[in-house]
Amino acid sequence: MKIIVTGCKGQLGTALTSLSKKYDTYNWRFMSRVDLDITDIDRLDEFFSKNDMTGSVVINCSAYTDVEKAEDEPEKAFLVNRDGAKNLARASSSFGFKLIHISTDFVFSGDKGSPYKEDDIPDPVSVYGKSKYGGELEVLNCEKNCLIVRTSWLYSATHNTFVKKIYSKLISGKPFSVVLDEIGSPTYAPDLAEILVTITEHIKNVNDFQTSIYHFCNKGEVTRYYFAKKIAEFIRNSTSIHPVLSDELNMKAKRPHDSALDCERTVEKFGLKVRLWEDALKEAVNEIRSE
Ligand SMILES: NC(=O)c1ccc[n+]([C@@H]2O[C@H](COP(=O)([O-])OP(=O)(O)OC[C@H]3O[C@@H](n4cnc5c(N)ncnc54)[C@H](OP(=O)(O)O)[C@@H]3O)[C@@H](O)[C@H]2O)c1
Repeated sequence: MKIIVTGCKGQLGTALTSLSKKYDTYNWRFMSRVDLDITDIDRLDEFFSKNDMTGSVVINCSAYTDVEKAEDEPEKAFLVNRDGAKNLARASSSFGFKLIHISTDFVFSGDKGSPYKEDDIPDPVSVYGKSKYGGELEVLNCEKNCLIVRTSWLYSATHNTFVKKIYSKLISGKPFSVVLDEIGSPTYAPDLAEILVTITEHIKNVNDFQTSIYHFCNKGEVTRYYFAKKIAEFIRNSTSIHPVLSDELNMKAKRPHDSALDCERTVEKFGLKVRLWEDALKEAVNEIRSE
């Protein structure tokens, strides 16, 4: 069976690329933006017509993910995150493949006060969040054979995201500030990649399932500040980290204050064992240290 991964050079795409060696009975195809631009309908048609897609699974890891920049160029964010998702969802019906589309906790405002469940109504507060919600609605329009997997605070040792940036700041030894009033559930990209393979194994032989949403993140929730402190603790680094409120940082994009995700539905449906965020973080930090 074929598994096609779009946006394969991103952090989730890279985690799936590494994991594919363990699951080598699948016929994996890794497509970068250059190989397969999900906003280019003609190219998608050409690619899917040339490959026998019946029964295949496409995992859409491609996205416009720059939350700050999206405020200045909403049309670019919507083009990839909404229209690109729509193109893939439509192609899934036309070419007979199953689609796993990745979405985000940023579809929520963060005002609920407890972890978000799949059926909570999205109310995004940023352009990025709105564009990703637009993508979800397009995928939901395709009523069969698509899954939306929402994740949150994704990080890896391979890309320069939150964990690596904090690590570098700690190593530099100069005091720095981290936001205190943002709570979420961190997700280690290799853990999400494993779960996506598990989900693929569940859906590969199911004909015509209802399009639905699942949440996945590592277990537990934490503030950005305490997340950074934990990295410092793991590497026994005493650089001062100051807690600040998000309003003090003059960021363009609003972020949800508490967008932790409830993953119970996913855990039950797919029989998952989910690691605590601290355990996954320790592995990531050890990997960064060994580079
Ligand atoms: N990062 C997070 O904290 C986070 C949190 C929650 C959910 N998510 C979601 O998780 C998924 C994976 O995120 P990630 O962190 O792995 O993102 P990422 O590292 O930014 O990777 C996204 C990839 O998509 C590619 N891409 C952009 N436009 C494309 C297009 N038109 N056609 C094909 N590929 C395109 C990018 O290519 P270029 O590099 O060439 O631009 C990049 O390789 C996304 O759906 C994201 O919204 C991420």
